[in-house]
Amino acid sequence: MKAADPSRADCALGREELDDDPIAQFRDWFEQAAAVNPMPETMCIATVDEEGRPDARMVLLKGVDHDGFRFFTNYDGEKAIQIEANPVAALAFHWVELNRQVRVRGPVERLADEESDAYYASRGRNSQIGAWASPQSRPLGDPRSELDRLTAETEARFDGVDPIPRPPNWGGYLVRPVQIEFWQGRRSRLHDRFQYLPEGDGWTIRRLAP
Ligand SMILES: Cc1cc2nc3c(=O)[nH]c(=O)nc-3n(C[C@H](O)[C@H](O)[C@H](O)COP(=O)(O)O)c2cc1C
Repeated sequence: MKAADPSRADCALGREELDDDPIAQFRDWFEQAAAVNPMPETMCIATVDEEGRPDARMVLLKGVDHDGFRFFTNYDGEKAIQIEANPVAALAFHWVELNRQVRVRGPVERLADEESDAYYASRGRNSQIGAWASPQSRPLGDPRSELDRLTAETEARFDGVDPIPRPPNWGGYLVRPVQIEFWQGRRSRLHDRFQYLPEGDGWTIRRLAP
């Protein structure tokens, strides 16, 4: 692992510094970000609804490997409805301390049940209750009494139940990258950008104008 160096915030990024493998490159930047950013796993995910209108919100990256980028959510929520209608997404990370951005685009698929089960089991009990209790993205009565009631009902339902099973409508998605861009900001505003695109069994890398 390369040590994080906040002075990189104005460093040039050259092609020779980039790993040929964008996932290795992502991991390298992620580790550097993790040394200086309290939540490097925070990412914006954009999806598209049935009418082609984009939507965006933050989620947490919970794993990355050569299959892609994983996150977890409610399968009945708005983003899931959009993904089921248009199974594509774009991700964006911003690590302000390093003046870096990473962008990812690609098709999206549900994770296997076993993978979602394993991640759900690793969460704290309150988070597990919340996944059952909250009808994500649906209108709720205000003040929060309806959500408090749903939470209390869920706690009662699972009183003495351990482990709590994963709700069938909650689990993970995988974004399979078909385009990944690494952006290094420069004080000159003439930032460095490199985009990876699939080529044969590997990737080709090209510099983009800032
Ligand atoms: C920093 C941060 C992390 C979040 N992480 C998640 C997450 O991992 N999964 C999730 O479903 N929502 C997460 N949320 C909430 C989403 O931004 C969003 O409000 C919620 O998923 C409902 O979005 P939707 O109505 O488009 O489905 C997070 C919000 C913030 C600000």
